[in-house]
Amino acid sequence: MSLSIIILAAGQGTRMYSDKPKVLHTLAGRPLLTHVYHTAAALSNREIHIVYGHGGEQVPEASREFHASWVKQEEQLGTGHAVQQVFPNLPDVDNILILYGDVPLITEQTLEVLVDAASESGFSLLTTYLDNPRGYGRIIRDDKEKITAIVEEKDASEDQRKICEVNTGFMVVNGKKLKEWVNALKNENKQNEYYLTDIVELAVKDGVNVTSVIADSPIEVQGINTRSQLCEAERYFQLVQAHHLMNNGVGLMDPGRFDLRGELEIGRDNEIDINVVIEGRVKLGNNVTIGSNCHIKDTIIADNVHVLPNTMIDNAVIGNGCRIGPFARIRPDTSLSEDVHVGNFVELKKTDVGKGSKVNHLSYLGDSHVGSGTNIGAGTITCNYDGVNKHQTIIGDDVFVGSDVQLIAPVKVNNGATIAAGTTVTKDVAENALAISRADQKAIPKWKRPTKK
Ligand code: UD1
Ligand code: CA
Repeated sequence: MSLSIIILAAGQGTRMYSDKPKVLHTLAGRPLLTHVYHTAAALSNREIHIVYGHGGEQVPEASREFHASWVKQEEQLGTGHAVQQVFPNLPDVDNILILYGDVPLITEQTLEVLVDAASESGFSLLTTYLDNPRGYGRIIRDDKEKITAIVEEKDASEDQRKICEVNTGFMVVNGKKLKEWVNALKNENKQNEYYLTDIVELAVKDGVNVTSVIADSPIEVQGINTRSQLCEAERYFQLVQAHHLMNNGVGLMDPGRFDLRGELEIGRDNEIDINVVIEGRVKLGNNVTIGSNCHIKDTIIADNVHVLPNTMIDNAVIGNGCRIGPFARIRPDTSLSEDVHVGNFVELKKTDVGKGSKVNHLSYLGDSHVGSGTNIGAGTITCNYDGVNKHQTIIGDDVFVGSDVQLIAPVKVNNGATIAAGTTVTKDVAENALAISRADQKAIPKWKRPTKK
């Protein structure tokens, strides 16, 4: 039997105290809804129906890459009402899996078990046991342990509130029956909502044996309602990722102080110190070490590279044997060839640096090209911006740039040239020439320092 999937994502998320729709808050750098969507997409090749509402078009607009059918629930009248909005698009023949957009850690494996459990009975429910079941719908069973109903916390009696088996919200129901039962829902309860959970009682009345699957990891079915819960889910997710990386050979100094917000492709013998954040798509070669407090985003790093502490790299390509940092900032569209050294307080933007060249201290190179074997002295700055346009600086191979040099772009320094310290380069420099621009030094002998009056 085919499987159609509905993701409910219309709710407001009042307890986040945020103007952003709850499902767009991020876990490991991606919206909550994106996590659920990807899990859903892995389970079924049928269209995925997403019910949205609160926050309006922001949710579909932020999720353009999904292949989904979006259904707007104009007013949030309850989970049953939300499911009902999808009916015109739902085939009767399918089993329907219902997911929540604010429960991001649910796994494909658990859902597969749930889907299997519904293949016979036509109705399966994912439940879990919580030490503190507050806020959840409680699972009511008869003396033969058969499920008879779900009672919401607000409608539950004192005895019912003591039940620790709770509704996770995930269920698989036969499509035709789902429509019948949901269309029969009433909103006569404390919240005046159409509760999807009330279909359990209707199914039992129709003689259906509602089967349950018990999720053994409560965090997997934890809904995100508050920022604390979001943070709990984040830490859990990060630890899972960290241990996965360690199990594949990455040396993490502390899995509790490592954050991966995207995808990390690893090599052998990668060592990562504490408080490192990896974002987007990052690829590491072999024998790469990353020092503490580094932030690396959308970057490819080759073998034997050492990134020293407090370095930021964004959208760059780093060649074999490079050494970067501490305190370096590599900005987008930068590429370093082999054995390049970039030192402290150096900023590179849209710059490529050739083999073996060094930019070791306090420099800014933007929109530039540096050849191989070149040394850039401390405090060198490419003046690439004239207030309106950006201009290129080209520095050849085997060039020596002394300290405190300004290169007024567009300008070209040819191979083998030397630039004396303190020079402001305004004209191209010929091959093997020395460029020097320096005011003559004066000396006033026996200079008396001013004294305080
Ligand atoms: C729901 C269940 C409860 C379960 C809990 C698990 C019902 C009536 N109750 O309660 O048994 O223990 O989830 O987390 O189903 N939504 C809509 N439209 C609406 C209302 C909700 O799309 O009109 C969406 C929300 O965005 C959310 C999900 O449905 O993703 C659950 O809604 P929420 O209001 O959080 O339900 P709970 O009260 O937590
Ligand atoms: Ca909830």
